[in-house]
Amino acid sequence: MTGSLTASRPFSALDVSSREFWRLDPVEREKTFGRLRAEEPVSWQRPLYSPLMDGDDGSPGYWAVVRAEDIATVSRRAEIFSSSAGGVLAEDFPEEVLEMASSILTMDDPRHRDVRKLVSSVFTPKRVKLIEQQIARQAREIVGAIRDRGEAEFVSSVSARLPMWTISEMIGIPPERREEVADAAESMVAWGDDGDGVGGDAAAKMLNAIVVLHGACQDVIDARREQPENDLISALAAAEVDGERLTDDEIRSFFVLLCVAGNDTTKQTTTHTLRALTDHPEQREWLFADYEARIGTAVEEFVRWASPVMSFRRTALERFELNGVVIEPGDKVTMFYSSGNRDEAVLDRPDEFDLSRTPNPHVAFGGGGPHFCLGSHLAKMQLRWIFHELYTQLPDIRAVGEPERLVSTFINGVRRQRCAFTPA
Ligand code: HEM
Repeated sequence: MTGSLTASRPFSALDVSSREFWRLDPVEREKTFGRLRAEEPVSWQRPLYSPLMDGDDGSPGYWAVVRAEDIATVSRRAEIFSSSAGGVLAEDFPEEVLEMASSILTMDDPRHRDVRKLVSSVFTPKRVKLIEQQIARQAREIVGAIRDRGEAEFVSSVSARLPMWTISEMIGIPPERREEVADAAESMVAWGDDGDGVGGDAAAKMLNAIVVLHGACQDVIDARREQPENDLISALAAAEVDGERLTDDEIRSFFVLLCVAGNDTTKQTTTHTLRALTDHPEQREWLFADYEARIGTAVEEFVRWASPVMSFRRTALERFELNGVVIEPGDKVTMFYSSGNRDEAVLDRPDEFDLSRTPNPHVAFGGGGPHFCLGSHLAKMQLRWIFHELYTQLPDIRAVGEPERLVSTFINGVRRQRCAFTPA
């Protein structure tokens, strides 16, 4: 019955699925999302273009959820909207791939609750504090490495470096393997870019990357089981909640998730923020007039403005009425966080970059609920330190020229962005 209902639904005239749509400038795309928020907040869309399959995502269509309040409902009602049925990206992934690569992100309760409890138990305040000191030091070194150059390609020389370094450091990947791990982590997300290869090639690249990441992680697990150290893997290997422990498979899968979830997100936010601070010099001045007092609110606006994760999907397990629309079991439901972050119903002047914005009810880390970003504190810490160092060491650093954008339905990305500054 569900199949025939789904097949007979007309697609919205406001299309947000085609490859052409995702090649548009984000400001142009946002006009369509603005109309959807006003006219059709829950719309039935033709299947989303998938660079991985070089075609549509293989479904009969999906519901596009574009308002912040509805995104919160879908995120919180996890018993109705599943993350494990095919995963959280547009296309369904085989269960084995989800098992190997996305850990808690694509689990439902009770397994999600149990494994998340275990992995969260190692993010103790003491450990996070220790990581903060390392992040501050690393941010100083990253900026120090370009300070006498006068100009640089910002993404590779700054944005990309801190997130991957933090994850490798937390996990305990030895320095000589970090480049290999960083390359593999990069290809885990590069498939989303249709400039970088699409179709079977992208799928093969992704599987290769998973194999490399699992290999590197297993070597650390073996070493730490023998001789525990003060790092995340040692803690994960020893973690025990209610008599349960993580298996090696679960630790490896969590590592792949960290490489994907904790890497591109902070990296893209850093690049978008440099551009926004360049385009809004009065905001930059306001922030740096009292950085310590103001970075707390500012960093929330960095993340809202960048919206690096534009969408995640769920699959309905039961019939549910959302904003007047009946969603049937088996229907795909995609939340567009980037649209929720411009929702005039919950944000004043959403098109303004305002670093003093309070409250700032953005949904960049998710709409609440059990899957809310586990790394949000860490991400904000990284952003706080990298911008602290950039403007302390290179006060006039600015983005120059146009960004070279990634074409993706999922990551709001910039591949390359030049920057310039007075050499220190
Ligand atoms: C600006 C940076 C970041 C953004 C915008 C972001 C965004 C997100 C979003 C939208 C989700 C899904 C939320 C949901 O489904 O309700 C998520 C989940 C997650 N994120 Fe982040 N993230 C960022 C940085 C990080 C970092 C630095 C880490 C770790 C090193 C991390 C680890 C995770 C994990 C483990 C999950 C899965 C949580 C679960 O399913 O229970 N994220 N993130």
